Amino acid sequence: MKTKGIILAGGKATRLYPITSTISKQLLPVYNKPMVYYPLSVLMLAGIKDILIISNSSTLPRLKDLFGNGKHLGINISYAEQEKPNGLAEAFIIGEKFIGKDNVALILGDNIFFGHGFSNILNKAKNRKTGATIFGYYVEDPCRYGIVELDKNKKPIAITEKPKNPKSNWAVPGLYFYDNSVVKIAKGIKPSARGELEITDVNKIYLKNKKLSVELLDRGFAWLDAGTYDSLLDSALFIRTIEQRQGIMVGCLEEIAYKRGFINKKQLLERAKHLNSVYTKYLLKVANEKI
Ligand code: DAU
Repeated sequence: MKTKGIILAGGKATRLYPITSTISKQLLPVYNKPMVYYPLSVLMLAGIKDILIISNSSTLPRLKDLFGNGKHLGINISYAEQEKPNGLAEAFIIGEKFIGKDNVALILGDNIFFGHGFSNILNKAKNRKTGATIFGYYVEDPCRYGIVELDKNKKPIAITEKPKNPKSNWAVPGLYFYDNSVVKIAKGIKPSARGELEITDVNKIYLKNKKLSVELLDRGFAWLDAGTYDSLLDSALFIRTIEQRQGIMVGCLEEIAYKRGFINKKQLLERAKHLNSVYTKYLLKVANEKI
């Protein structure tokens, strides 16, 4: 069974106003790349080649300009509109045809992940054929997120969306792996008090059916959501720090495509020769096996 991927890149991004008054959040730069490069890189790292990008009508043309059909990255990208931000779980209803009979991973267009061993963690989640996998990330400010409570064996016992009095510091990042029953589950849930189809309600059903796995992301792992002025700047500085120290890029799509065997050296060089930036010079280094 195949796993497909969805990037949800809509929403109003009111928290970033006025930066987002004429440009969508997911297209804003995070240091040297558009924000949406980072979640796309995660799906590609997971070896996912069929990807649906969901966004609003004004952003979709820009995203299509950015990625086209994905052929230059050796992947298939399609697009769909979300008319209003009706909630994260609506992605599975909008994406029903795209998902077909396959499993699906969902990632939010403003979530950035970086850490040692991430490809292995992604593969473990993808290789679970049934049930759902979410991730747990220890945070200082759990009230801002979906939170998972764990028993002493680190198994999930409860999951709550933005609790006022959180019983755990384990936030649930915006990356989720589901079996095909997610479509039916998403269609069955009702909008929450804030009027959204909540991903947390989907996860609660998997938990109730004893089909929810939680992978904890260790100390030292970075998960950033670039949705506020500060987290946007923090993310950019984080990426710059890592990249300048190591000379290795985070979220370089062509590098991942090449190393995963989605594109060959000729295609990589083709991409590198078009432009003249530090990014494309980096692609030449990748092609020459210097990275
Ligand atoms: O970032 C992780 C958190 O994302 C999880 O811990 C929460 O459980 C989950 O509900 C979600 O919480 P947020 O409050 O951060 O979700 P927000 O409404 O800000 O939406 C997240 C991103 O998804 C944002 O970039 C906008 C986009 N979005 C959101 C909604 C509701 C859409 O594209 N469509 C939507 O309908």
